[in-house]
Amino acid sequence: NLTLVSNKSQPNELLMLLLENRGRYISGEKISKDFGISRTAVWKQINTLREWGYKIKSSSRLGYCIEESPDLLLPEEIWSSCDLSILGSEIYYYSLIDSTNNAAKKIAQEGAPEGTLVIAERQNRGRGRIERQWQSPLGGIWLSVILRPYLLPQDAPKLTIMTAVAVAEAIRSEIEIEADIKWPNDILIHGKKVCGILTEMSAELDAVNYVVIGVGINANNDSFSEELKDIAVSLKEVKGQKINRLKLLCAVLSKLEDYYEKAETEGFYEILERWKSLCVNLGKKVNIKSINGSFEGTAVDIDEFGALLVKKQDGDIARVLSGDVSL
Ligand code: BTN
Repeated sequence: NLTLVSNKSQPNELLMLLLENRGRYISGEKISKDFGISRTAVWKQINTLREWGYKIKSSSRLGYCIEESPDLLLPEEIWSSCDLSILGSEIYYYSLIDSTNNAAKKIAQEGAPEGTLVIAERQNRGRGRIERQWQSPLGGIWLSVILRPYLLPQDAPKLTIMTAVAVAEAIRSEIEIEADIKWPNDILIHGKKVCGILTEMSAELDAVNYVVIGVGINANNDSFSEELKDIAVSLKEVKGQKINRLKLLCAVLSKLEDYYEKAETEGFYEILERWKSLCVNLGKKVNIKSINGSFEGTAVDIDEFGALLVKKQDGDIARVLSGDVSL
């Protein structure tokens, strides 16, 4: 069970070096000189990487060369593949954890910087909205992002909207599948759920302390339980082949980072417009289930706070801030 806490300024240097020179040999002598370690220590580290699943060619004359990476979302893989500035300054990586959102909240409480990521290959107590479970087997992308935005607490739902847009657009551009958004934060493909977002925050009355945005993407996981199999889908199922999780993760993070920066300088207007164009609910009949009961109407818009505006049969407009929508 691998737990890695990696800081961008202190990566696994050997892995970074080999990844940056993927397909090329780096001599053992150079590695041992550059890192000030013995040739035996180099060999030991190479073997650890092999245990993680790296295919590394070695030649006494040429040195070492990464042939193939394991399908793991390791911090060094993210740093060497994704072009990020805010996100990923620190990455906590777990083979197995209860919930990346639980870990992220704890880490944020202890002062983790903005942009810290928590990633797990598997969760055994993954959480969804409204105290639901979130099945998180191997093959998915289970991620939490810590942000420390200058926002009023009532504006925090905008971050969920921003994340939904980033994920839907990343799936569209990277996987070439039409992903849509269902209010408030589900990403659907042909009406089935492929991604859920769980945003949690710690705030004072007038300021956000930190926000944890949990993103769960059904990427290559394909065995859904009986209750989920008609309503959930994975990208692998839709594409008919495994997708590249690292590439998709990079696309999601890079879009998220771009929109986050944009929101700080220009506000949320453009993000909201994009959300509206990706949303399946607008203009459609909806059934709203909330703690105050359920009702039907037509979804006409979302407002600047991310609330769904639903025109009821009597013509009144209801502002729905939380709840479940069915079409
Ligand atoms: C939902 O649609 O109900 C939200 C699901 C959110 C799941 C993700 S997986 C990563 C992060 N950790 C969790 O425990 N939940 C979120």
